[in-house]
Amino acid sequence: MTGAAWDAFWSTLPAEPGAALWDSSPLLTAARHLPLFRGHADPSLPLVDIGCGSGRQTQWLARHFPEVVGLDIAEAAVELAAASHAAPNVAYRRADLLDQDTVAALRAEFGDVNVYMRGVLHQLAPDDRARMLTTIGLLLGRAGVLFAQELTERTGWYVAELLAGGAQLPKTAGLAAHFDFGTRIAPADDGRLRLLFEGSGFDVVADGDIALHTTERTSGGHPLELPTRYLVARASARL
Ligand SMILES: C[S@@+](CC[C@H](N)C(=O)[O-])C[C@H]1O[C@@H](n2cnc3c(N)ncnc32)[C@H](O)[C@@H]1O
Repeated sequence: MTGAAWDAFWSTLPAEPGAALWDSSPLLTAARHLPLFRGHADPSLPLVDIGCGSGRQTQWLARHFPEVVGLDIAEAAVELAAASHAAPNVAYRRADLLDQDTVAALRAEFGDVNVYMRGVLHQLAPDDRARMLTTIGLLLGRAGVLFAQELTERTGWYVAELLAGGAQLPKTAGLAAHFDFGTRIAPADDGRLRLLFEGSGFDVVADGDIALHTTERTSGGHPLELPTRYLVARASARL
């Protein structure tokens, strides 16, 4: 998806917390992710949240790192994050993480950082996915650690089957209609997220299945959970 499409998405979204499908409570999200990567990370480094969206997870993560920077390609997302999820040690900025000059400037400003990235890779074209991995490697440097949660092909099948079965999931159906969510999902299969990072010179220190809690309620009244993958990695000396 382009920056303009993301800007249009965030500008037309209602302002209340959780309006986006993935904008779940941090207690069900970042708070469950931190234990998966805290033991591998240097907590004295800054944390960069790539594609921070509303900033809901960013703000929670800022309790655990000295300095947190939420970056998003959509100006509307950055404005929403600054208005709704501010904290004294958080800065939100508009940044296209596929832009080399932007990444070089971030690297010069912050040095090695930890990186948090949730739900960004799957919506990028294959070439852009490779560029995003280059970005992450540059930002991590020798000392940083990445935590990523990503949708896979299994997420796509799951969503497609739910919708085909007539499930009443308006947010999910809206995303499926506008962004091909549920059909155009990458990385292609569950093991591929790890292969993608290993093939780009990262050392993967942990990965596994993890639920993505959404803000959509099923007909049974439970929050819809999607099957996704997580991964913790360092940039290896080869990068
Ligand atoms: C599915 S949302 C996830 C938001 C947030 N990480 C969360 O979990 O709530 C993906 C976000 O990535 C942002 N994004 C997409 N491409 C980007 C890029 N090239 N650089 C920075 N942000 C990007 C979008 O604007 C969007 O806010």
